[in-house]
Amino acid sequence: MELIFRPRRLRRQATLRKMVQETHLRREDFIYPMFVAPGQGVRQAVDAMPGVCRLSVDQLLKEAREVADLGLPAVLLFGLPQKKDETGSEAASPKGAVQQAVRRLKKEVPALLVITDVCLCGYTSHGHCGLIQGGEVDNDASLEALAQVALSYAEAGADMVAPSDMMDGRVGAIREALDERGFEMLPIMSYAVKYASSFYGPFREAAESTPAFGDRRAYQMDPANAREALKEAALDVEEGADILMVKPALPYLDIVAQLAGEFDLPIAAYQVSGEYAMIKAAALKGWLNEEAVMLESLTAIKRAGADLIVTYFAKQAAALLRN
Ligand code: PBG
Repeated sequence: MELIFRPRRLRRQATLRKMVQETHLRREDFIYPMFVAPGQGVRQAVDAMPGVCRLSVDQLLKEAREVADLGLPAVLLFGLPQKKDETGSEAASPKGAVQQAVRRLKKEVPALLVITDVCLCGYTSHGHCGLIQGGEVDNDASLEALAQVALSYAEAGADMVAPSDMMDGRVGAIREALDERGFEMLPIMSYAVKYASSFYGPFREAAESTPAFGDRRAYQMDPANAREALKEAALDVEEGADILMVKPALPYLDIVAQLAGEFDLPIAAYQVSGEYAMIKAAALKGWLNEEAVMLESLTAIKRAGADLIVTYFAKQAAALLRN
């Protein structure tokens, strides 16, 4: 048999392999998620997320400097309240942990872009992402509350807001509220396609946001659905989203690829807590090579079409990509 084409010709030498490499990770691709807790001197490790801590503002600033020094462009902030209540009122408080963190970060680590997650689940006593009325999450009542949260982050100086609640119409409601108050240049990164995923388990420990009753399937998407993802994304584009996010990442690469093909906005993918925990746990047992699997998974997410990757591995990956 005579082989005309031999793909292995281009794989024989390391230099040539590098020359024909199609996907490249850059430090600028990554967004590092951080958890802000009330108080001072707080540094609480999250069990199922080795290397991730809940930090009070003073501690967060230290770590944020490290993040910036590694050449990472941005952080995504999640907050914990002093006290939870039925409506998650602390989420929009100018004195909240996130609002304080944003103000200090913009002053003390100005190079870092500060994105804030907009949601109520960490702030409500029931742990749901919106307001409860008659035993269920009331979509339209939640919109006003979420817009107020986004506005309070904008007023604190956030560079971008990222709504993750999955209420219908929230991107439009937030856009309108921001524009009315003069924040028409503040971009919205929408968690446009967010699945009701069991991969969020470790995050809920970190954010203390496990729902007290029921689950999130009445607002987050069914993992079995793909066409619906295109609809969700199209709605967010109409409402004024600037960046579309898919979440989780690795189990949903088909969705990342479809969105990248269909829409002309930047696509972000969130490598969530469970994806991180799986790699960390296997590595701790000596069952997987942590660095290799981390880089392979991040490369795969980018290859599928993600322009930006939210990942708890950001610092580790940036350190490796330095040289
Ligand atoms: C809040 C929110 C969640 C995550 C990001 N924002 C949890 C959830 O929806 O239950 C998950 C992030 C992760 O698992 O790393 N709505």
